[in-house]
Amino acid sequence: MMVDAPAAGMAEDVLTGIALDLVETGLAIRDDFLPQERIAQLASEGRALLNTGELHAAGIGRGRQFQANSAIRGDRIQWLEPATATPAQRYYLGILEELRLAINRGLYLGLFEFEGHLAVYPPGAFYRKHLDQFQGTQQRLVTVILYLNPDWREEDGGLLRLYPDPTDDGRHQDLLPLAGRLVCFLSGDYPHEVLPARRERLSITGWFRKRD
Ligand code: OGA
Ligand code: MN
Repeated sequence: MMVDAPAAGMAEDVLTGIALDLVETGLAIRDDFLPQERIAQLASEGRALLNTGELHAAGIGRGRQFQANSAIRGDRIQWLEPATATPAQRYYLGILEELRLAINRGLYLGLFEFEGHLAVYPPGAFYRKHLDQFQGTQQRLVTVILYLNPDWREEDGGLLRLYPDPTDDGRHQDLLPLAGRLVCFLSGDYPHEVLPARRERLSITGWFRKRD
């Protein structure tokens, strides 16, 4: 999806810093990436969509391979579309557009668009270990996740578990899905999973892609 840059942008050095981290380690983590009011707005819109039944079961695979499978992932999602996005979603999409340009300047990946969805994990839901690239394709190059959960504690579960070395299952890094936390990584380099959430867990998850 193509999005116009917002009038009120984000400090360029923040975005450049993320691009640099991606170059150096393939992973960037930033807390308080957006003001808490924006996060709260995105979260309350997400909860409203869940409560009115407007989210659908997320699937795995694409095209004819698509299937919903709650033994692999149990979140409910709504794809973001600029045409129907709320003002808060537009604001975030605008910042992602600036981030896309910053990453292109730093990594020469030729990222050309963002696709993403709001995701709600009801209590008990998880997403088994996976890579964000569909088999045989490398269209998704950079994963970017923004968490929307205030006061999330370790015992609430729902950790993002990253495996920095795909050949070593024993090594992992766990991250709480804290409101305002942005996690960005090279999609092909980091297998990851979402451990079972014990509370409703909201995020906006997406990918910068290159052309098919
Ligand atoms: C995904 C995913 C991680 C998270 O949607 O592909 O891995 O922490 N999400 O929500
Ligand atoms: Mn993923």
